[in-house]
Amino acid sequence: MESLPVAGARAVDRHLLVVFGATGDLYRRKLAPALYHLVRQYQMSDRFLVLGVARSEMDDHAFKAFSKAAVEGISHRQPQLGEPYANPARWCDEVLNFQSIGDSEPEAFQALRRRIERIEAVHGLAGNRIFYLALPPSALGPTVKALGASGLTHSSGWTRLVVEKPFGVDLDSAMALNETLHGCFDEHQVYRIDHYLGKATVQNLLVFRFANPIFESAWNRDRIDNVQITVAESVGIGERAAYYDRSGAMRDMVQNHLTQLLSLVAMEPPVSFDAEAIRDEKVKVLQSIRPISPDDVVLGQYGAGRVNGKRVASYLDEKGVKGGSATPTYAALRMFIDSWRWQGVPFYLRTGKRMGGRLTQIAVTFREPPVALFKSFEWSRHQGNVLYFKLQPQEGFDLLFDVQKPSGSPQLDTRSLAFAYEEAFGNLPDAYETLLYDVMTGDRTLFVRSDEAEGAWRLYTPILEAGINPYPYQAGSWGPQEAERLLSPRGHEWTVRLPE
Ligand code: BG6
Repeated sequence: MESLPVAGARAVDRHLLVVFGATGDLYRRKLAPALYHLVRQYQMSDRFLVLGVARSEMDDHAFKAFSKAAVEGISHRQPQLGEPYANPARWCDEVLNFQSIGDSEPEAFQALRRRIERIEAVHGLAGNRIFYLALPPSALGPTVKALGASGLTHSSGWTRLVVEKPFGVDLDSAMALNETLHGCFDEHQVYRIDHYLGKATVQNLLVFRFANPIFESAWNRDRIDNVQITVAESVGIGERAAYYDRSGAMRDMVQNHLTQLLSLVAMEPPVSFDAEAIRDEKVKVLQSIRPISPDDVVLGQYGAGRVNGKRVASYLDEKGVKGGSATPTYAALRMFIDSWRWQGVPFYLRTGKRMGGRLTQIAVTFREPPVALFKSFEWSRHQGNVLYFKLQPQEGFDLLFDVQKPSGSPQLDTRSLAFAYEEAFGNLPDAYETLLYDVMTGDRTLFVRSDEAEGAWRLYTPILEAGINPYPYQAGSWGPQEAERLLSPRGHEWTVRLPE
């Protein structure tokens, strides 16, 4: 292994990264910029080559130009003196290659194999391969089978498979997909992406909980009253009706991103900071969630309204949405975890498109004091102790506490202690940079294990099958009023910290 010049860099074996779906949106918006950033950050230009693969006809030259435009379209840090790849054109030119597989006939995969072997021979690569499937769900299984049949999964080095969400559409399809994957790859070779796990603020949940015992000792049913997870988006479905109208909020967001957040907040301390130890604990959370009944779920679908001052169309008027579609663009759930730590504490989850703002937050509300000594005092406002994890935007956390206001008559107020990531550490890396780097270094901690994916589908499949109808909500609002009924029996209310 060559020396690693950059502080914090980990060892990356030289390898070939084969990206299926390389003419698509994910590659253009996320993967190409993340790869380029990684090369610059860790000076790892000699560690990997990229082979883009897609059905479309394109040659190397056009792919390099397409990638260069993608990389140039994003912000960059200032180049340092003598930095070889400060110019993306040079990186694209030296590192990127392209192969079309047309309609994916077996011959196309044999041609792909010859191309891969040629690149490896010319560049002296030892046969280490990453296959990244940036493909629509229906193409995952067939591509994995074709890879297996072509012999590409066997080489003189290591091979890793990266698959994007959604991983199946329900429990049966996820199990079938796992079976297909395991026919060609061992579980330790599979990296299932949930890009929320790559966000620095999401990873920090573990550090926050397990490096700071003052919070961990209060992290239980004796001290915590309820936990809320909100992932609100102001965007609609854009050009994605073909995918979204068949998926909806439960499959698109709840089964994966929100459930990952829930697992990290609720899990027990792992025995070590090792991928399997952490994922074991996350799986146990899923196993201890009480079956969710349709009464614990409220779905919604946005109507027309105003978002960020602009008029926006209703979901049903979005391009490509089926007339009369009952696909939910909003979901709110009440869940309980039957464990010693969490018995009786409600976890409220909600997510929606075209909501009042873009914001991902976890609000942990602590119990009120056992005796209300100050109940006769005047309050400016009272929220009690709430810990807000602000995952995006304005990443950081706020801890709310009550103080006495200096004034003639005793007055109380709720104020906050705040920590802001950007102030402390500057810009955070994009989730895809973190995740790609982890795949390259063989760290599976931030990827979803097969039993985790299935465990989440096991929870939500009955709800998907219950055929719950969505309530309408106005675009730009915080979802349908009906979602209040999940919280009101216990006197709770939805709470978020709005950006200042
Ligand atoms: C994706 C969903 O997984 O996550 C999208 O398919 C959603 O519908 C996106 O918009 C949200 O991600 P982020 O990082 O913008 O919060």
